[in-house]
Amino acid sequence: MSDSAPPPIRPLPETVVNRIAAGEVLARPSNAVKELLENSLDARSTTVSVACAQGGLKMMQITDNGCGIAPEDFRFLCRRFATSKLKTYDQLQGGEVDTFGFRGEALASVSHVAHVSVTSRTAAGACAFRGTFRDGALLPIDAGIAPDLGGPEDPAPGEDVLQAYLTPTSGTQGTAITVEDLFYNVPARRQAFTNPRAEYVRILDIVSRYAVHYPGVAITCRQHGASRADLSTPGRLASPRQAIQAIYGAEVARNLHDIDIPRDTTGDLKVAVRGLFSAAESRFRNPVFFLFINNRAVSSPSLKRAVDTLYANLMLTAGGKSSFVYLSLTLPGAHVDVNVHPTKRFVNFLEEDRIVELIVSTMADRLQTENTARRFEVTPLGSPALDMAPSTPRASASGPRAPDTPSTPRTRPSSSISSQTSSPQFMVRNSSASQTLDSFLLRRGDLRAAAEPGTGAMVLDAPDTPSGQATGTPSTLLDTPTRGAPILLRSVRLLRQQCVAASHSDLLALVRESIFVGIIDGRRSLLQHGTRLMTFDHVRLAYELFYQQVLVQFSQLNTFEFDQPPSVRDLMLLVTSHGPLLESDVAASLADSLTAGHTSAEDLATKLAEVLLARASMLQAYFGIGIDEQARLTHLPVILPGHLPVLARLPIFLCRLAHHVPWAEESPCLEGLARELARFYAPDPRDITDAGGDAFARPLEQVVFPYIKSYLLPPEHLATDGSILQVASLPDLYRVFERC
Ligand SMILES: Nc1ncnc2c1ncn2[C@@H]1O[C@H](COP(=O)(O)OP(=O)(O)OP(=O)(O)O)[C@@H](O)[C@H]1O
Ligand SMILES: [Mg+2]
Repeated sequence: MSDSAPPPIRPLPETVVNRIAAGEVLARPSNAVKELLENSLDARSTTVSVACAQGGLKMMQITDNGCGIAPEDFRFLCRRFATSKLKTYDQLQGGEVDTFGFRGEALASVSHVAHVSVTSRTAAGACAFRGTFRDGALLPIDAGIAPDLGGPEDPAPGEDVLQAYLTPTSGTQGTAITVEDLFYNVPARRQAFTNPRAEYVRILDIVSRYAVHYPGVAITCRQHGASRADLSTPGRLASPRQAIQAIYGAEVARNLHDIDIPRDTTGDLKVAVRGLFSAAESRFRNPVFFLFINNRAVSSPSLKRAVDTLYANLMLTAGGKSSFVYLSLTLPGAHVDVNVHPTKRFVNFLEEDRIVELIVSTMADRLQTENTARRFEVTPLGSPALDMAPSTPRASASGPRAPDTPSTPRTRPSSSISSQTSSPQFMVRNSSASQTLDSFLLRRGDLRAAAEPGTGAMVLDAPDTPSGQATGTPSTLLDTPTRGAPILLRSVRLLRQQCVAASHSDLLALVRESIFVGIIDGRRSLLQHGTRLMTFDHVRLAYELFYQQVLVQFSQLNTFEFDQPPSVRDLMLLVTSHGPLLESDVAASLADSLTAGHTSAEDLATKLAEVLLARASMLQAYFGIGIDEQARLTHLPVILPGHLPVLARLPIFLCRLAHHVPWAEESPCLEGLARELARFYAPDPRDITDAGGDAFARPLEQVVFPYIKSYLLPPEHLATDGSILQVASLPDLYRVFERC
């Protein structure tokens, strides 16, 4: 209990209040650009150009040809809660606001954290006027002479008063707003922006959203002083697709599907949806997701998550990389609350879950039909046998084929497919439902007429969609991570580079183009590559995949939570007290520790648990392994969406972490942790008896193998250590049969 008197409650000084409020509206330069761009669109501009210096931090200028600002209104331009758009609160509640702005807060906020100058001319104005603003107020031209501008109830100031504040200047109709030295008076925030280029990319992202959604408006965005715009739409375009073509190119625009769900006038779900979305096989560099609700650019985490999950699942089989989705929802105004976030980034809308479901199921129908209908060819390799010798070191320019290099499956129009001639030794069946064996039996004449080996091509059905619950976004070591900024230590970067350098190009091609046939036993599976059948060691390949994925998703791993977190020490005790019974190197070395130091199993378990506890924050931040203050294991990472480790191996995993990882040095420690995680998550031949055949096979076939196929960069040693072996080759078998 404290005897001291409570500190007095006092209102904050106005400047502090305004700066705090400004900090909420403007988190970063792109927020300011969005506000200014929306003002230009509210002013019914048909041309808007954006120019930025140092990612908008040094300067941003937005110029439009809209209605302009009357000289007598300049005094309210940067005043908080002064607006020309909203008159009554009922308008907001009734959803009657059809402008982006309604609060009269954006320009005020900008003026509290930056230097603002505005030049504007109305249609009726004889010339343009320029004024400068600081902390919400219009500054007099000469600080010594400052006649009162009056308040909202006073009559508009006369010309004699205005001339002390505004400079007449030449200019066409419209407004140019210049914002300089953003966050000049909030040093902590200013210093947080260490990468102006990244801020400019965010600005480009937001400008391109509006450019797509407003194809009728000519919008450009450039770096200040650059002669070429980084983004430009000509205006007067008929559709968002044309705007996408102008920004992203014809190829992107051509390959987008339309979504058009009209408003159901009879049902209770009063939403209309229009938009465009890419095929599941698309290979854009970065994913794009633009959402507009009642013409406002907003975020909807639930819709984004649902769309991402849909694509993640379909892309596994279609070989896609990232998606392009533009959605525009129109809802009755009264169903949407736009006033829920300081940056207006989020809106609340009724029936969100059902609307998400409607959109995603409509997209899924279209994408799944396309996925099932896909036909692709299998191109036989030039050499009949896979050269398993280590590949010669590659020049960096010809590194392993990146997953975004088009590889099979390749799509072809079905007409061109049907005209293909195929020699039987290059025909492969991968589904009993798709083709009968008869089609493989050719008559003698056909055989002679068959094309030279290596020139035939055969049409196959695409494998079925895996049913793994893909929620994350794994990528290869060659991709830029898609989620928020990762913590990337130099040592992790080096480990990643080692994986890239060690990858084997022939194996990479083989893995990417192979089809999973089935599991032979706990260690081996069968794989079809063109006309050849291979066995592969799924334990080793999965181990490499998990190791690489831990590095790729370093510090960004999704996690799952234990309902009842077990005590780390109790888990360790399971090993230390029964260790010698376990057939494992960790058990052996623990047994040594027990006998050498005459430590009891309890003490040893406590010591091992303490090793992990001392590193709990690092384990959590970098690897998603959560240990709380009561030394309970709360979280484990989800390395591949839809895949969990076999928890029976959890105690031994924790012991190995504590005992085997070289904690003293950064790089070996991080590598050791990543490898231990990989060992724990990869299948173990013993799981097949513990878990039962189906429980072992299903995750392997439906989750692990598709990810191996799409994301693994196979290290060179897999080519020589017997991990992948050819067991049959159709052309060779034919040669044998022909001799018979
Ligand atoms: N480019 C422009 N062309 C014409 N008028 C403008 C322009 N930019 C701002 N204005 C005027 O300045 C006023 C204040 O703009 P500000 O962005 O601060 O508030 P708002 O748009 O009304 O509401 P919000 O804070 O929600 O954006 C607007 O209401 C509008 O009348
Ligand atoms: Mg505004």
